[in-house]
Amino acid sequence: MTQLSHSEIPNIIIDTDPGIDDCAAILFALGLEKMGLLNLLALTTVAGNVPLDYTQKNARIICDWADRSDVPVYAGAKQPIIKSLITADDVHGNTGLGDAPLHEPKTPLQAQSTISFLIQTLTEAEKNSITLCAIGPLTNIALALKANPECKQGIKELVIMGGSYLNICNITPNAEFNFFVDPIATKIILESELPIRLFPLDVTHKACITTPRMDQLRQLANKNGPRIANLLQSYSRYDIQEFGLEGGPLHDPCTIGYIAQPDLFTAKAVFADIETNHGLMEGAMQVDWNQKLDKKPNVDWFYEVKADAFFELFTQAISKLP
Ligand code: BDR
Ligand code: CA
Repeated sequence: MTQLSHSEIPNIIIDTDPGIDDCAAILFALGLEKMGLLNLLALTTVAGNVPLDYTQKNARIICDWADRSDVPVYAGAKQPIIKSLITADDVHGNTGLGDAPLHEPKTPLQAQSTISFLIQTLTEAEKNSITLCAIGPLTNIALALKANPECKQGIKELVIMGGSYLNICNITPNAEFNFFVDPIATKIILESELPIRLFPLDVTHKACITTPRMDQLRQLANKNGPRIANLLQSYSRYDIQEFGLEGGPLHDPCTIGYIAQPDLFTAKAVFADIETNHGLMEGAMQVDWNQKLDKKPNVDWFYEVKADAFFELFTQAISKLP
């Protein structure tokens, strides 16, 4: 693994809709922080897998699980920019965290809204200093960029889970969940001219939690190893039945793995766009893989992962938690 010098340690904000794989991503980030591989500045929450009342509370419960009630958690958009909210409780359960027993969180909810926090933090930050990691619908980030385009200056890169091109889709025959929930927000981000690293189903379906990988987590001598193994076990049922995958795909943790160890993943720079109109192709992506459109690439589109090394890093990071 390449060692990062202190000045290179990424400062990240995770925008999230927990969600079981979001939970895995947040715990992964907190473990990597203990390994000195990133600094987590805040969690900002959005409606997605379940409504906002659950996602903001779940984010705080996850911080409690890691004994990290010092992590600032913010609540953001309750609804996509134009559409009504579509949830994924069939995958993540009614609360968003499967069957896990949920307590009243000790980690407080910050009074400032997510949009105002993002604008203030990114505008005041050193130029290109913050990695924004978006693992839910892109509503919060699009609203912040629209309200105050100057906040772009603080963003080093946008690392996003969403979309699908070379792979099957998971919410309609043509669209992936995060991008389908808020296609307008996705379009705003794709047109932002920010450096975008995109983790679509094309790559996340190659990072599946197989039984041996799950067993390694379950055997860790802490509370969070078995906890995340149990959560991922219930989450995996959906993708195994629906898509015949070898286990649940760790969609959201791929973004975190990339931030800590970019060489685990392979990408191609392409021009990508999204259909925002309501109809058959709503939320579908057009990806100019063979440069037919003569347009400047706007995303790094990830399509390969060194899955064993990725799961080694994931398990190692989870082992650092209580
Ligand atoms: C994405 O949709 C959500 O259900 C997951 O949390 C992930 O962010 C995968 O399509
Ligand atoms: Ca998510």
